[in-house]
Amino acid sequence: MNLIFLGPPGTGKGTQAERISAELNIAHISTGEMFRQLANEGNSLGVEARDKYWGKGNLVPDDITIGLVQERLKKEDCKNGFILDGFPRTIPQAEALEKIIKINYVIDIESTDAVIIKRLTSRRQCQNCKKIYGIDVPPKEEGICDICKGKLFQRDDDRESVIMERLNVYNKQTKPLIEFYKSRGLLRIVNGENPIEQIKADILEIAQK
Ligand code: AP5
Repeated sequence: MNLIFLGPPGTGKGTQAERISAELNIAHISTGEMFRQLANEGNSLGVEARDKYWGKGNLVPDDITIGLVQERLKKEDCKNGFILDGFPRTIPQAEALEKIIKINYVIDIESTDAVIIKRLTSRRQCQNCKKIYGIDVPPKEEGICDICKGKLFQRDDDRESVIMERLNVYNKQTKPLIEFYKSRGLLRIVNGENPIEQIKADILEIAQK
């Protein structure tokens, strides 16, 4: 089962990918997480991508992103299937992807800007295991991860000014993918404003058809 999770920033792609990948025993590939990881490690490409692109809410150039995903898809854990969370984000990325692998469904998780802004400004993430927390998923102990006791942090791009830029970029560069995948019969839409467990059930129903 090869899935793409599409949708604006903060709509719940990562939250659902974490749950669905565990349920279906498939890999969870988040390009955003890959970029953050590279920057944290001090990798020069990762630091440049943060300073020039994602830290400001802009997309990392297609050639860099496509190369990264191509390499990631060759790994052993993708043999059983995968969820691409945050890739593709442009038409050239989608065209490159369809040349290398077959996708079963593209799940478009839809939410309004008001809900997104509220969610992103309050999102926290574990710096260790990357578990995502938010208003509806608070940690038991403030600032500490329930799972691994790691420290929670706020992402550099979750400041309101950067969130607005991410939404602009989504509307201009990523939204056209909805028509791209609709025309290929792959698009399925779920309501991202429902409770997390409801959205999970909706996605599983699509994936298990
Ligand atoms: P990326 O990390 O992919 O960020 P994003 O797409 O902006 O998405 P987010 O991770 O912000 O949100 P999400 O939809 O995963 O929501 P989440 O589940 O966390 O990318 C970061 C940057 O990297 C990009 O801006 C770009 O610069 C670069 N990049 C990445 N991929 C690229 C590519 N392909 N090409 C070029 N550049 C690329 O949920 C958000 C919050 O809401 C959480 O607090 C969560 O607890 C809460 N929540 C989720 N669902 C619900 C619900 N149903 N009810 C209540 N609360 C909920």
